[in-house]
Amino acid sequence: MSTRRPLIAGNWKMYKTVAEAEETARALAGQTTDVDSVDIMIAPPFTALTHVASLVKNSRVAVGAQNLFWEKEGAYTGEIAPGMLTEAGCRYVIIGHSERRQHFGETDETVNKKIAAALTAGLAPILCIGESEAQREADETFSVLDKQIKRGLKDLFANDLRELVIAYEPIWAIGTGKTATSEQAQQVHQFLRGLLAELFDEPFARSVRILYGGSVKPDNIAELMSMEDIDGALVGGASLNAETFARIVTY
Ligand code: PGA
Repeated sequence: MSTRRPLIAGNWKMYKTVAEAEETARALAGQTTDVDSVDIMIAPPFTALTHVASLVKNSRVAVGAQNLFWEKEGAYTGEIAPGMLTEAGCRYVIIGHSERRQHFGETDETVNKKIAAALTAGLAPILCIGESEAQREADETFSVLDKQIKRGLKDLFANDLRELVIAYEPIWAIGTGKTATSEQAQQVHQFLRGLLAELFDEPFARSVRILYGGSVKPDNIAELMSMEDIDGALVGGASLNAETFARIVTY
């Protein structure tokens, strides 16, 4: 039996004004008061973090950011430091989302620095990895993921990584309505856990939560969660509506 506590995380991407974020967060907090066996996180845009965090303070809902920069402070126009996120009330931070890799030049090397900085600041990093459609078709899925994990977690130790969460998000399933089948996802999650055991050790590998992401909806979450190595979900589109997201949380 797995002792891993499921985590259902919502990534709001570049959606919602402060007022909209507050409204959704308030509704979600209200609809999840009875949830006690699942961790819940929402990641609003930076501008809404403080507002949302103070709103959900006494609820089951935790707050995460969608990105950070690895330096503590300095002349880095447009960037946000890890300590600024904890100050805003964040407990989690999404790192290396495929949209950041694709549009903002993130690499496994910058991801690695961000993970280290998040851990130092006491934030739980959600490391996103995943293969493109072309890579899957070329049978490169496992080698791509192997590289992303090894480079993303380079020079880090199991002891420091206790808060690490991994999100497997096949790029071809993000925002497309095409979900990986639960078997496809399980196969990858099992591979990832084996890889973590090889790189670190068995107990660590068994303790790390591995989320699936990519077109997760109320009607496919239960099937995904029934898989041995799927410990939760990173949800984009379906996390924007409180009622829909609450249905996913209470799968
Ligand atoms: P989606 O996005 O649920 O809209 O497919 C997932 C993600 O980008 O994390």
